[in-house]
Amino acid sequence: MSKHHELKQTEIKYDKDRPAAANPLKVEDLTLRDGHQSLFATRGRTEDMIPVAEMMDEIGFWAVEVWGGATFDTMHRFLNEDPWDRLRDLKRYFKKTPFSMLLRGQNLVGYRNYPDDVARVFVERAAENGMDIFRTFDALNDFRNFETVVDVIKKCGKHFQGCVCYSLTEPRMGGDVYNLDYFVNKAKELEEMGADTVCVKDMAGLLAPYDAFSLIKALKENISVPIHLHSHFTSGMASLTHMKAVEAGVDIIDTCMSSYAYRTSHPAIEPMVMSLLGTNRDTGFDIESLAKINEKLEKDILPKYKHLLDDSKVSVIDINVLLHQTPGGMLSNLVNQLREMDALDRIDDVYRELPKVRKDLGQVPLVTPTSQIVGIQTVNNVLFDDENESYKMITSQVKDLCFGLYGKTPAGVNPEVQKKALKGYPRGETPIDCRPAEILEPELENAREAVKDITSDIDDVLIYALYPVTGKKFLKYKYGIETPPDSVRPKSLEEAKKQEELVRKVRSGELRDALEKIEKKAEPPEGENVRKFNVYVDGEEFEVAVEDTGMPFVAAAPAAQPAQATPSGPRREAPAAQKTEPAARPAPSKPRAEAGEKKQEAPKEEAKKPAADVEGHPIKAPMPGIIVRYEEKEGVKVEEGDTIVILEAMKMENSLTTPVSGTVKSINFSEGDSVAKGDILCVIA
Ligand code: CO
Repeated sequence: MSKHHELKQTEIKYDKDRPAAANPLKVEDLTLRDGHQSLFATRGRTEDMIPVAEMMDEIGFWAVEVWGGATFDTMHRFLNEDPWDRLRDLKRYFKKTPFSMLLRGQNLVGYRNYPDDVARVFVERAAENGMDIFRTFDALNDFRNFETVVDVIKKCGKHFQGCVCYSLTEPRMGGDVYNLDYFVNKAKELEEMGADTVCVKDMAGLLAPYDAFSLIKALKENISVPIHLHSHFTSGMASLTHMKAVEAGVDIIDTCMSSYAYRTSHPAIEPMVMSLLGTNRDTGFDIESLAKINEKLEKDILPKYKHLLDDSKVSVIDINVLLHQTPGGMLSNLVNQLREMDALDRIDDVYRELPKVRKDLGQVPLVTPTSQIVGIQTVNNVLFDDENESYKMITSQVKDLCFGLYGKTPAGVNPEVQKKALKGYPRGETPIDCRPAEILEPELENAREAVKDITSDIDDVLIYALYPVTGKKFLKYKYGIETPPDSVRPKSLEEAKKQEELVRKVRSGELRDALEKIEKKAEPPEGENVRKFNVYVDGEEFEVAVEDTGMPFVAAAPAAQPAQATPSGPRREAPAAQKTEPAARPAPSKPRAEAGEKKQEAPKEEAKKPAADVEGHPIKAPMPGIIVRYEEKEGVKVEEGDTIVILEAMKMENSLTTPVSGTVKSINFSEGDSVAKGDILCVIA
């Protein structure tokens, strides 16, 4: 490490025009992407970013992150905003500061691997519309999933920032997989691929301060491009981690404006500016200008979003992350999943089983989608395995992972689990070892064709290519073919303040009587998860919109049919932020609910055909869910172990097999039906 990077103190005196430090710490601001994604379910609107954009442009940030991650999905789905417009609109206000985006490798800004033709055009259009720095990551740290996008980033003359996802199997860095060598080697791979900067992406807030010191020091010794640190505050360590990283010579860190900082977001910028004042790593930022930006955010912007902040807990840190080395979002998802299955008392078994399942699945980093894949399989094992058989119910996503559709896992997959998972797998029983996107068919021309009656604009076509269901709906709103629902309308500051006042009254008890008068309006149209209530307080009427943002597991696109080589893939970084839609698949008998867009319906009593006096072996729903399809028809002969029905639960697909050989006697439901736990789906006799 060169002396240049060591932290030295010179003079402590605040002056906004102070001379520049020898090696100022560079800072990327994440307020306008990861900040609101982490704290406010990515609901920030462009109109609420513009008022601070010019002020932020003056600070001297190395970059501002304004796009990518869940923004593309959330904007078109929930805000009725064109994601491409945000890029173009903000660019008019940020005249000096480069733009950065989070790109999920071959998953782009969605939740599955897209084919190369879509990936290439997407990156080209992002560059053309104003993106400068492409922060690229892959959930398995399999950088073959970078190849296509990196080629285009470079051809467009843009900045390729390669990420290594930080993960642990032990309480601190080390062990067989995630040790210092692993991270240094991964960083070297990125440098060889042409990374302009290398970023350590600590999405779960697991990086401990002294591990950060050794890691950054080792990277500075082995890598010649600048090193960037992205660490979430979730566990409470990130501010300490930043400081040790600065001492070890990190070049760039990520922060948020203080009003968008901490909790599951990032450390704030202001304490860092003052901590480094007068040292050789002084940021040079003007603390008063930062304070003015915050004042504006606090006064004019945040009242509109405060209701989205999860304030159910007093504590701003998640101690469970320290206990289990597992992202906070994943843990709360596990709890939700168990609750849905009426098995909350099994949570300790789940914590015990989790490291085993993760090991069986190749010690994948726990970042969406892999955190969901491991989490849901763990719950299945805890609930359904017995002393005779483990991995009784394997989700489609685990099968895809075992087949190699996500890429190469950091450690090997347990061969027995792999063999069991791939038995009867539609694409074949032998896993692939090529770059996953190589087996995907092009999709762009089909996407053009699908929206040709609405638009031929390539940016529009990409919205559809990435999100066929919600994307098409958005394009219909955009071109006036359909009227957008009220729920996507922006909320004014005045409305927000009224609602806040209402909430205050509820909490103080003033509203107890008034609450009894709540009038439930008509059911919202299908596909909307906003419910409106009229509430009367002191003779004044308030309209309250309650939005269901707490989707338990976001994301798994169901596995594609054999005819298509489309890997399913969920992904999510922050709780309630990203909702996905199923991968394109052959038209089912009725439109499928898009994940996150529609609450799972209560099981329909009338859908049940009489299943009384069952003779033979009933196949029951082991959990509440939706029938994806029956694999066999009535009257067909089946062998023990054959898959009879595919049930989707928690957005993951489960194959239900028959424990006996015989004939399919009665099929009691159809595709798309919701079923309750214990419902008899069919009988084998
Ligand atoms: Co992040």
